[in-house]
Amino acid sequence: MRTATDTLDSARLTVRRFTSDDLDLVARLLADPVVTQHLGGPKDRAGAEQTLRTRALDYYDRHPGLGMWATIERASGRVVGFHVLNHIHGEPDIQVGYALFQDAWGLGYATEMSVRLLRYGFEELGLPVICAITNLDNAASQRVLLKAGLTRKGERTFVHPALAGEGSMAWFEAHRTTWHL
Ligand SMILES: CC(C)(COP(=O)(O)OP(=O)(O)OC[C@H]1O[C@@H](n2cnc3c(N)ncnc32)[C@H](O)[C@@H]1OP(=O)(O)O)[C@@H](O)C(=O)NCCC(=O)NCCS
Repeated sequence: MRTATDTLDSARLTVRRFTSDDLDLVARLLADPVVTQHLGGPKDRAGAEQTLRTRALDYYDRHPGLGMWATIERASGRVVGFHVLNHIHGEPDIQVGYALFQDAWGLGYATEMSVRLLRYGFEELGLPVICAITNLDNAASQRVLLKAGLTRKGERTFVHPALAGEGSMAWFEAHRTTWHL
C-alpha cells in the first residue's frame, strides 16, 4: 500500500487507495446518520471532503503504507465502505478501523479486512502494536475487534477535537508478538 496502485486482498474484499473521484461515495457514507452514529455524527459534503483530503489523499505520502482505503467487494466490484490503518487523531498510536454502508453489514466484511490489515501491519510494516477505539456503546464494532484478535484494555479519553466530544472510549490492542488468529 506504499504506491498509488497497491492493493491488499482478503478472501472476498480488496482495499485500494481513495482518489478525489471518490468524494461522492465518501460523502454518501459520511452523510448517513446511522453509519456515523459512533463516528461523531453525519458530515456535510465539505466535511467529507476534508476527511478524504486529510485522512487519505494528503496522508498517503506522509505516512507510507498507512491510510484510509476504499473497501471493495470483489464479486460485485462495488465499494462497501472503508477500512483504515492510520494514526488515531492527535496520537502516535496506529489504529485499525472501518465503516461500511448499511447494506454491507452482517456479512463479516469488517472483521475479514481488519484481520488482513493486522497481518499486513505486523508482517509487512513491522508495527509492534495496533490499537483500536470505539464508543462504549458500539457493541458491533467491539465484537469485530474481538473477532479480529484484539484485546480490550480499558478506556481512554482524547484531547483532539475529532474525539474529545466522545468522552471515554473503549481501547483495544493487538501486539505483533502475541497476535494470532
Ligand atoms: C461496525 C461495522 C463496521 C460492523 O460491520 P460488519 O461487517 O457487519 O461486521 P462483522 O459482520 O464482521 O461482525 C459484526 C459482529 O458484531 C455483531 N453485532 C452486530 N450488531 C451488534 C449489536 N448491536 N450488538 C452486539 N453485537 C452486534 C454481529 O453479530 C457480529 O458478530 P458475530 O459474527 O459473532 O455474530 C458496521 O456496523 C458499521 O459500519 N458501523 C458504522 C461505523 C462504525 O461504527 N465503525 C466503527 C467505529 S469504531
